[in-house]
Amino acid sequence: MIEMQDLWKTYKNGSDALRGINVKIDRNEFVYIVGPSGAGKSSFMKLIYREERPTKGHIFVNGFNLEKLKQRKIPYLRRVIGVIFQDFRLLPRLTVYENIAFAMEVIEAPKRQIRKRTLEVLEQVRLKDKADSLPSQLSGGEQQRVAIARAIVNSPAVIVADEPTGNLDPETSWGIMKLMEEINFRGTTIVMATHNRDIVNTMRKRVIAIEKGQIVRDEARGEYGYED
Ligand SMILES: Nc1ncnc2c1ncn2[C@@H]1O[C@H](COP(=O)(O)OP(=O)(O)O)[C@@H](O)[C@H]1O
Ligand SMILES: [Mg+2]
Repeated sequence: MIEMQDLWKTYKNGSDALRGINVKIDRNEFVYIVGPSGAGKSSFMKLIYREERPTKGHIFVNGFNLEKLKQRKIPYLRRVIGVIFQDFRLLPRLTVYENIAFAMEVIEAPKRQIRKRTLEVLEQVRLKDKADSLPSQLSGGEQQRVAIARAIVNSPAVIVADEPTGNLDPETSWGIMKLMEEINFRGTTIVMATHNRDIVNTMRKRVIAIEKGQIVRDEARGEYGYED
């Protein structure tokens, strides 16, 4: 599903974000990426959805060899990846329904299918009654559920979530995690960077710990395991 071979990322200013990452993530896994601030977690995620390109090494995502992927083919990669951010990143002038439908419009899905599928995912994230609200009229947890609906609406093979509960209170965070787990049960691979110790230690999954750009620990059903 995802494979990185001796992957390096050095930014233009010389900062070495990733230094020789080797990892394989299989279809249908749920993986937490943990590590201190500046460890390279976001860079790890950005290389997966091709927001950034590696300086060296190889990366494969759902059959795409990202080194060889031409600029004009990036939309095909983005169709199989759903991305979720800490700060939601919804379009403020579009309603909840429109925010989700928009993700299908950009891939030119048929109109009838857009309506059917958008309503389906609204139901899945339990926000049907908010379809016509604007993001600013929703709580943080609701906004993140819209972002999740948008991320899954095109049925991606993998969800990449960069600290999705980082701006949410504990109770709301658990609701988001239940949804993530449900999505994983339905067959989507999940890669999630997080600082949430309680979640990692309670909802046990594979844990990959990154420090200073290197993988220092990789455990099935692991623990958070370091002091913030
Ligand atoms: N766009 C960028 N330009 C230059 N340096 C960056 C950029 N993004 C991240 N870095 C640096 O790369 C390192 C890893 O950052 P990041 O991947 O954001 O880590 P994390 O998500 O674990 O906090 C840090 O030293 C950070 O300052
Ligand atoms: Mg980060």
